[in-house]
Amino acid sequence: MMRIGIIGLGAIGQRLIKRFAEHKEVEIVAVCDQMEPLAMKTANDLGGINAYTEYQQLIADEKVELVYVAVPPKLHHSIVMEALKAGKHLLCEKPLANSLEEAEEMFHTAKQANVVHAMNFPLNYEPATNKFAEMMQERYIGKLRRLQLSMHFPQWPRAWQQNNWVGGREQGGFVLEVGVHFIQQIVKMFGDVNDIRTQLELPEDPSKCETGIIATAKLADGTPVLIEGLSQIPGKEYIGFTAYGTEGSLSLDNWGIIRAGKNGEEPKEISFEHQPYNNLIDELVKATKGEEAEIYDFEIGFKAQRVLEQLRKM
Ligand SMILES: NC(=O)c1ccc[n+]([C@@H]2O[C@H](COP(=O)([O-])OP(=O)(O)OC[C@H]3O[C@@H](n4cnc5c(N)ncnc54)[C@H](O)[C@@H]3O)[C@@H](O)[C@H]2O)c1
Repeated sequence: MMRIGIIGLGAIGQRLIKRFAEHKEVEIVAVCDQMEPLAMKTANDLGGINAYTEYQQLIADEKVELVYVAVPPKLHHSIVMEALKAGKHLLCEKPLANSLEEAEEMFHTAKQANVVHAMNFPLNYEPATNKFAEMMQERYIGKLRRLQLSMHFPQWPRAWQQNNWVGGREQGGFVLEVGVHFIQQIVKMFGDVNDIRTQLELPEDPSKCETGIIATAKLADGTPVLIEGLSQIPGKEYIGFTAYGTEGSLSLDNWGIIRAGKNGEEPKEISFEHQPYNNLIDELVKATKGEEAEIYDFEIGFKAQRVLEQLRKM
């Protein structure tokens, strides 16, 4: 049994609680949220487990082997550093941190601690993303000419994530919150991203996050990367990640749809029914047992942060 404690019981914390609770090899032993009624209710719903309002208390709980950090980005660093000191395994929400300095310290400290340090980058455990990577490896598009990420939000913050931080400039904004998933995929599939130039549209109110971005960058071989996004626009939400090549194009649309076409054709939706993929929680359990596992660690979180911090600051 992997005994976990969860800090942060908001939108994503609750989503993962359901998955942890269903897993045969996981036991949720403690929860923590600064909102006491939420901590108490969640603990009661989970059968009367330990409930805390201070993260230090959960980290000090001897029953807890792995700490899942699901609080807003600004708090990741202090919680992770404390948990590392206590020798706990970690699953940290993305983005790893709220600055490059924080991310670097977390990564270096985690590397020296003899613990699992995993990030929740869920795209890696999706069949569509694995199909995308497989078709890239098979050179479906020929030679890569350009990567393009589009992020269009009629409403930001989105309806399901109304909170007091994701619309703020300090630790919110769609570049950090959503862009991070695709930056991590780019780094994983294509390596380092350099020569980042960014143009942000920022509201006059300095406390509010960006409403637009147009950024360019280059892969190591010079292949261009174009990142564009806008919020507060008409129409439907759209997140598109496209690779254009000499022979065709391949897109991951709205997190789970693959569209592909050869030059001269209309891109079509591709089915990926039998695409193999792993499950984050199975992989975490394996990693904590010392078995080989598909884990995206703090080094990957740090590399993504390096790109993100250049994108979100002019
Ligand atoms: N992996 C994903 O797909 C995904 C999706 C959404 C959010 N996230 C990430 O998850 C994290 C949380 O996002 P969310 O949307 O659940 O936010 P949220 O605001 O809904 O929830 C955060 C919770 O943390 C609690 N909290 C804040 N400060 C605390 C403290 N000092 N001690 C204890 N609890 C505290 C809040 O009371 C709240 O319940 C962020 O890093 C976000 O980027 C990841």
